[in-house]
Order: sequence, then structure tokens, then C-alpha cells
Amino acid sequence: MSELICAIDVGTTKICALIGELDDENNLRIIGVGRVPAAGLRRGVVVNTAEATAVIGQAVAAAEATANQVMEAAFVGIAGSHINAIGSKGVVAVGRNGRSITRDDTLRAQEQARNIALPHNRDIIHTVPRGYTVDDQPGIHDPVGMFGYRLEVDASIITGASSAITNLVSCVQSNGVAIEDLVLEPLASAEAVLTDDERQLGVAVVDIGGGTTDVAIYLESAPWHTVVMEIGGDHFIRDVATGLRMPYGKAEALIKQFGHVLPSHVPSDAEVRSGAFGETPYQVVNRRALAEILNARAAELVELILREFKRSGYDEMLPAGIVLAGGVAQLAGFSELCRDDLQWPVRVGRPAGIASSVMDLSSPEYATGVGLLLWGLRRGAVHRVAEPPASQFFERILKWLKNLLPVSGIS
Ligand SMILES: Nc1ncnc2c1ncn2[C@@H]1O[C@H](COP(=O)(O)OP(=O)(O)OP(=O)(O)O)[C@@H](O)[C@H]1O
Ligand SMILES: [Mg+2]
Repeated sequence: MSELICAIDVGTTKICALIGELDDENNLRIIGVGRVPAAGLRRGVVVNTAEATAVIGQAVAAAEATANQVMEAAFVGIAGSHINAIGSKGVVAVGRNGRSITRDDTLRAQEQARNIALPHNRDIIHTVPRGYTVDDQPGIHDPVGMFGYRLEVDASIITGASSAITNLVSCVQSNGVAIEDLVLEPLASAEAVLTDDERQLGVAVVDIGGGTTDVAIYLESAPWHTVVMEIGGDHFIRDVATGLRMPYGKAEALIKQFGHVLPSHVPSDAEVRSGAFGETPYQVVNRRALAEILNARAAELVELILREFKRSGYDEMLPAGIVLAGGVAQLAGFSELCRDDLQWPVRVGRPAGIASSVMDLSSPEYATGVGLLLWGLRRGAVHRVAEPPASQFFERILKWLKNLLPVSGIS
């Protein structure tokens, strides 16, 4: 018998399935990783169910093959600009018969906060408590064990478009994996990269992926504001592909290897060979010119992020600044540019606190995946599983091989 926690980060660029195993001391170790290029997703949402189902299946099967375990249920990340957060309060009477406030009371208060009029095409994804008021005493994080008569929760109700949620759920479930919980991606990333001190002081995690930039603002240890913006690495790649007239894949490789967002850090005569359209096998690219293109997009992205902070009203309340995650956090010079433009502390967040016996997951692009596992771990959702029956395992492998055929080449 072992205890497992599983996660699937359904990103715009990559699908990452993770299987974590708990040891006797409750330490989590990642024993299975499946990472495949995404298909059927745009800006964080499913746009082609067949393709998305197939790639999720490939990622799950690859993780299962490395772990030699079956993924029965998983925490699944959700993003997209259809996500909304609204503030709501819920009040319940407590402390009858002289007893102190229980976990059940806090859940009843959250239930009350969820009683809001929602359009029929929206569903609640999370109820995130920001703080509690016991009688007249506000600003309490954990009221369990306190005495009082009236318990009020100030919560953030995070909702999403029902159709986007249903599509994602069905793509995962079609692969025989039940949904343990849908977790908003910025909240998952925050689990993996933020320190307790940062959360307490005030900090924003900004996860810049391929299609979306996911932001979560933490104050007094609780998430106060979340937003998903439809901008990401794809925009950098498109700018370079059109500006330098080269195929998309070549543009991405060029950015990763030679890109920098601060032109002054690149010698004006530095040149590299890269792919080109037409009959010429390659073209010579000036690295300073590449940096100019990336700089314009990066500056615009930072401005959008700042505008979002100002709109939220929390821009003056983040002494710990910004922690960057997602693939774009690795773009050379990006964190320096953020620091210079915003004049805030900025650091690149790397998932910490989980060992892996499969591969190194300390890159910022694994923040969401690792964060989903930590989300499960911290909420006590652990599955006891027996070794999978051999037949079930072979079935999965066969399905995985079959899946490889129709989608190969799509990414
Ligand atoms: N070293 C690097 N330098 C620059 N860009 C990078 C680097 N590594 C990855 N990227 C970019 O990061 C993006 C992918 O990031 P990530 O894996 O976090 O996205 P995702 O989770 O699939 O997408 P999303 O979260 O938006 O749905 C791609 O646009 C990729 O080009
Ligand atoms: Mg992502």
C-alpha cells in the first residue's frame, strides 16, 4: 500500500501530469512525471475536446508508466479569462451551549457566503476565506477554538464559465481520471513558490505561461485577488516570428537560447544563425534587434500587470513585491526589467519543498503542477492505493500508444 496525490496542469503550451507518493513521515516525493506538448487549448481553455483529451491522456499515461501506478483521481488546474472573483460575506450564529467555534461553523459561514445570485452559465470554483470576524473582532485567520456568538467570513468567491469548466472536466474524466478538485492555477502556483513571510506581508505571484498570465495577490496570508490575463509567451513568439520572418518553432527556440529583454545588455554586433522562410536554409539575426522586439512586448506586459494591480486597489499593499513563475519567468532579463519598471522587489519563484525521484522540477514552469500537489497535500486529500492490476496497466499503455498516433505533430 502507498499513499498517492496526483495533479494535472493543463497548460496552453504543455500538459504536465504528476504522481506524488507520501512516505511514513508525510513527506511527498514525486515518482511519476508526464509532460507532453499541449493541443486543443487556447489561452488556457479547451477549444478542441478530442485533441485536448488525447494529450491529457498521453501525459497521464507517461506519468503512470514512470510511477508504475494508476492515476485514479487528480487535482486539476483551471485558468482562462472566463474566471472571475467577487467578494462576499457569510454570517452564522455560533457558540450555543457555551462551546467554542468549530471547523464546521467556518464551513457553514462559507456556505452562506456562497449564497449569491449567479447567472445560470457560471459555476463556483472556490470559496476562499480572506478572514473572519468573531462578534466585533475582525481580522481573524483561524477562528476555530474561539468563543463568540456571531461568526462572519469575508470570502472571495471564484467563478468560471460553466461550459469551460465542463469541457475541461470531461477531457480529464474521459481518460478515466476522476477530478479531486479544480484549482485556480495562480492559487496552485502560489502554493509552490511563495514563502509564509511573503504571504503574510503582502505579495503577488505572477505566473506567465504560454497563453495566460495568472496573478494572485496575497495579503495577511490569504489570497485576496486573482486575475487571469490573456497574454503570455505566445505573444513574444508571434512578435519575433513576424518581426524577423521565421517559423513559429524557430522563433521560440531563438528566444529561449538567445533572447534578452534588455537591449543594453546585448552587444550591438552580436549575431546568430536562425531558421528562415523560403528557400534560404538560415538567416543571420542581430541579437540586439531580437532584444528590441522582446523588450517592447515585455514592457507592455509589465504595464498591463501594473494596471491590473492598480485596478485591484492593492498595488500599494505589496511590500514583498512580485514572485514570477511560468515559462516566461526564465526569459533573460525579464525579472530585472520588472524590478526597474515597478521599483518593487521581484524574484523568480522556483517550486520548492518536494523531492522528485524522476526529474528536476525546480524550474518556474512547474510551479502550477507542483503547487497542485501541495494544494492536495495541505488539504489532506490522500489516496491509499494498491498496486495496479497488470491488466489495467497494460490497457493504459495501449491507450497511450493509440493516442500518440492522431495528435503527433500538433503542438
Ligand atoms: N528559457 C525560456 N526563455 C524564454 N521563454 C521561455 C523559456 N522557457 C519557456 N518559455 C516560454 O514559456 C511559455 C510556456 O510556459 P509554461 O510552460 O509556464 O506555459 P503553460 O503552463 O503551458 O501555459 P499557460 O499557463 O499559459 O496555460 C512558452 O511561451 C515558452 O516559449
Ligand atoms: Mg501554466
